[in-house]
Amino acid sequence: MSGQSERPSAESNDSNLAKNEVVPLHESPKHQVYGEDPTQDRSTDHYQAEYVENFVERWDELIDWDARTEGEGQFFIDKLRALGKEKILDVATGTGFHSVQLIKAGFNVTSVDGSAQMLVKAFDNAQKRGYVLTTVHGDWRWLNRDVEDQQFDAVICLGNSFTHLFEEHDRRRALAEFYSVLKHDGILILDQRNYDSILDNGFSTKHKYYYCGERVSAKPIYMDDGLARFEYSFEDGSKHHLNMFPLRKDYTRKLISDAGFQKIETFGDFKETQPGQDPDFFVHIAYKAYDAE
Ligand SMILES: C[S@@+](CC[C@H](N)C(=O)[O-])C[C@H]1O[C@@H](n2cnc3c(N)ncnc32)[C@H](O)[C@@H]1O
Repeated sequence: MSGQSERPSAESNDSNLAKNEVVPLHESPKHQVYGEDPTQDRSTDHYQAEYVENFVERWDELIDWDARTEGEGQFFIDKLRALGKEKILDVATGTGFHSVQLIKAGFNVTSVDGSAQMLVKAFDNAQKRGYVLTTVHGDWRWLNRDVEDQQFDAVICLGNSFTHLFEEHDRRRALAEFYSVLKHDGILILDQRNYDSILDNGFSTKHKYYYCGERVSAKPIYMDDGLARFEYSFEDGSKHHLNMFPLRKDYTRKLISDAGFQKIETFGDFKETQPGQDPDFFVHIAYKAYDAE
């Protein structure tokens, strides 16, 4: 694919990350950066080299806001309202889909992302719909420093984003940061692809919930226990990729529980999970309150 060998900002990316700083917009690579063998690119920091300008510009073709609104329905809004949550931290803003849905529904939302390209696109998407996003450019691993002394009713980490963390200590660190920006009775809503199914039975998709665009295909081109490499092919023949860590459902639940959350409910494709069900995505809702029933 175009630009794979181009490594314009890899060095500056590394030095920024070494200082626990995200990569500023002017240093963001223009094309996706992978090594000679892309299946060896397995690092938490690598998302910065994947959400590049020309992929971000196409992200909304992939997720299709209208179809996604229909697929998800009111799931997140209903849950947050039923639990009386109002002040929301969207830690994986991407192009702004959930931030905008929630603002539109009357929630108070702060929108975080580690990718400057994504935040610029999200701000623009919101503005086009008549909203101004409150954005924070920060990485989950040092979230508390970047959102500065604020506490939230809910943290949402949606769109299969947590899968970008390749090292277990980064997953634990990110969950500890999510836990600590929450009020004493706050909740975390975190979703993930059903990697158990892909690892155990191969890939299939109902294509209904997340990657809803009809003119785009998203499929794994390489899988092992430590890597899911997905290819996104667009109508004009262009291709982009994401390297992700294939989280097993029970492993994710254990990590969330180890971070201190007292209760976790897991839904499959926005419904109560049923035995034998094989959903495309899981949504975990985790409760911080000690007495969560
Ligand atoms: C798959 S996209 C999902 C975006 C959006 N939530 C959606 O559903 O369309 C994942 C997002 O997580 C962000 N991200 C990945 N790792 C991150 C990290 N360590 N800190 C902050 N943001 C991160 C990426 O920049 C990207 O915008």
